[in-house]
Amino acid sequence: MAVIGIMSAMHEELAAVLAVMPDEQRVQVAGRDFWVGHWQGHSVVAVLSRIGKVAAATTATVLLERFGVDTLVFTGVAGGLGCGVRVGDVVVADGLVQHDMDASPLFPRHEVPLYGRARFAADADLAVQLAKASEQVLANAALHLGASTLAEFQLHAPKVHQGLILSGDRFVSTSDESHALRQALPEALAVEMEGAAVAQVCHDYGVPFAAVRTISDRADDAAHTDFQRFIREVASRYSLAIVSQWLSQRALG
Ligand code: ADE
Repeated sequence: MAVIGIMSAMHEELAAVLAVMPDEQRVQVAGRDFWVGHWQGHSVVAVLSRIGKVAAATTATVLLERFGVDTLVFTGVAGGLGCGVRVGDVVVADGLVQHDMDASPLFPRHEVPLYGRARFAADADLAVQLAKASEQVLANAALHLGASTLAEFQLHAPKVHQGLILSGDRFVSTSDESHALRQALPEALAVEMEGAAVAQVCHDYGVPFAAVRTISDRADDAAHTDFQRFIREVASRYSLAIVSQWLSQRALG
């Protein structure tokens, strides 16, 4: 039977997932708790990614090697970079780049040495399916979050975007830094700290990968504002609803 890996970047997201997995069993590997069970009838292994590229790559490698995961979906939050990518929007990756990779002049900036590429593609079918599920959830945002939460966080008509996500071992919290990222990689829609590393691991193993990120901030000087509350009340609810919607539309395998 197909096994789907669900990596959550935040504790609150994982807690929401575990609350809807009726039968999860905890398996500890490499100091991490992997939760093996079912969600919407699918065999699922849910896990906290941990923060940063190396930690997330280790988590992904264990999912693939030990748990035989054959599809991997990563959810979390990100800082918005693209114009029109606002707090409360969702970005589904079609490709991911490590913005802090720089082995120049030996290799072009951002290229991962010996891979001949900077950009790791998300699986195109998965990305389309998750973008569709995200559209369905955001169209009913008031249902998933409650009207008062929408008003409180000033989320008006949240949108789904599909495009390039950047990853690096830095929380981007100054306008100077986000400006520099936009200059270096103008197509980028969002920045986070893990996705491109997990995409590289999935590329190595030939396993389809997708990433869905809720925009929590604009990666600027206001980037820390009420982060925990946003994760609890907005991002983890979106992640749960989007993955749930996607699984409900996916054939059991
Ligand atoms: N995750 C959420 N917001 C982020 C930011 N501004 N930089 C890096 N990772 C993030």
